[in-house]
Amino acid sequence: MPVSRRNFLRGVGVTGGAGAMYGAMGAIGLAPSAAATPTPAFTPPAPSDFSLTGRSTRSVLVLGAGIAGLTTAYELGKAGYRVTLLEGRDRPGGRNWTVRGGTTETDLNGETQRVRFAEGQYMNAGPARIPQHHVTLDYCRELGVAIEPFVNQNADALLYYTGDTAVSNVAVKHRTAKADTYGYVSELLAKATSTGALDGELTADDKEALLEFLRDFGELGNSTGDPAAENLYLGGSGRRGYTVEPGAGLEAGTVAPAPSLHDVIAGGLGREFSFEFGWDQAVMMFQPVGGMDRIAYALEKAVGPSKVRYGCTVTGVRTTAAGADVDYVDAAGRARTATADFVVNTLPPHIAARIPHNLGPAVTTALGAAVPSPTGKIGLEYSRRWWEDDLRIYGGITNTDLDLSHVWYPSSGFHSGRGVVVGYYNYGQDALDYAALPHAQRRRRAVQNGAEIHGAVYGDDIASSFSVSWSKTRFSEAGWVDWESQTGPEYTTLLAPQGNVYFAGDHLSHAIAWQHGAMTSARAAVTSLHERVMTA
Ligand code: ALA
Repeated sequence: MPVSRRNFLRGVGVTGGAGAMYGAMGAIGLAPSAAATPTPAFTPPAPSDFSLTGRSTRSVLVLGAGIAGLTTAYELGKAGYRVTLLEGRDRPGGRNWTVRGGTTETDLNGETQRVRFAEGQYMNAGPARIPQHHVTLDYCRELGVAIEPFVNQNADALLYYTGDTAVSNVAVKHRTAKADTYGYVSELLAKATSTGALDGELTADDKEALLEFLRDFGELGNSTGDPAAENLYLGGSGRRGYTVEPGAGLEAGTVAPAPSLHDVIAGGLGREFSFEFGWDQAVMMFQPVGGMDRIAYALEKAVGPSKVRYGCTVTGVRTTAAGADVDYVDAAGRARTATADFVVNTLPPHIAARIPHNLGPAVTTALGAAVPSPTGKIGLEYSRRWWEDDLRIYGGITNTDLDLSHVWYPSSGFHSGRGVVVGYYNYGQDALDYAALPHAQRRRRAVQNGAEIHGAVYGDDIASSFSVSWSKTRFSEAGWVDWESQTGPEYTTLLAPQGNVYFAGDHLSHAIAWQHGAMTSARAAVTSLHERVMTA
């Protein structure tokens, strides 16, 4: 599997969930049960842990005020740990970044973009969707961050795949693609069942039950009355959508005839249907009202904004007999050293690998083993919500094999005057190709490709735009990372404290590229550190 594809699957959680799914299946059939407990089960440190044991609190330097760093500081702060965060940027959240009018960013290509989105318009440049089972929602509840549904799938969103079939190089609605793909696959399986090809697998009762399922699932029928023509995909129902919609009186609606079995199968219309089966991508999904960074700012507020030193670039990390030292350059450009009992380093591993330390070569090797994975997005602010007005697409995602990969329609602000469409959300080589371009060229290419799918309207009414390439974003230099192994010595080295230095981040979890991973990893580091303090 090419790396970009693997990274994509990793990133969207398609490959990661099998273990968890089988674990959860143990409960199925016993009783409806509460969701499985996130790992690790977590009890925040409490002030009484110190007062009741006569121990004194400790100081902790947290490197990075992204979600892992903020969660670490927040949870340690509950017990009275003296926490200081060093953050390179001038805002909390790290990759949790909501871009709004007024945002200014200079990327590693040296280009500065000034965002001119209208009041209330935004793009979540990093994380943008939250599954129901993620602890991210627990933090939203605890911190009072309002949430609203995120539309992760929409029957009326589109698929556009290149090729040489009747369904290629045209926009096809999800619902149409599903009706045709499920229909023909069901027809083929019904045929195999009826002709005895599966007799070794199925009893007579199984076969009848399977055929009953397939007739419903694929909407199979018999248009001729000839018993030999049973269980065929007839392709004429409203599942496909209508060219003339059902209406009042005698208007029963018109459905266009389905393309051939060959076109549907060879055109690959079903290639992304399994996305919504993913542990982390199944609906319902949520987003904070007003932008993902509501979570970052709520955490920052709970931690105490004065505890975060912004504009500080870490230049050295040392474990010492007494604790740990961190060298950094502050916002004014002065070289400084901070000292604490412990350090929790949440910097991206590929960046941490370049910072001098005294933790030994195994740590450098471990940090360097994480493979940065590129990704990018462009936000196109339109002054007219043509996707709602003209196409009746209310949120959701269009998928394509053009280099855009995914086009996201906004999940909020329905029927309002404007909206920000994510014109591409791509990975791997596509992300690198866009990363190499200045913004104006990214936009031109994105609009050109988007118009292939949506028509000329895609180029009209664009009020402003902003693009992010995470591999070209300072302090991140990737969307997320990939590991060759999450049981090997590199990964496991970073799970253990190195002297008085701990590591945390989504990269040290099985929810890479999710805030849940950052939060659960932070909780694991907090638990480990606190247990050590309590048993010292
Ligand atoms: N978790 C990221 C997403 O959902 C990769 O797109």
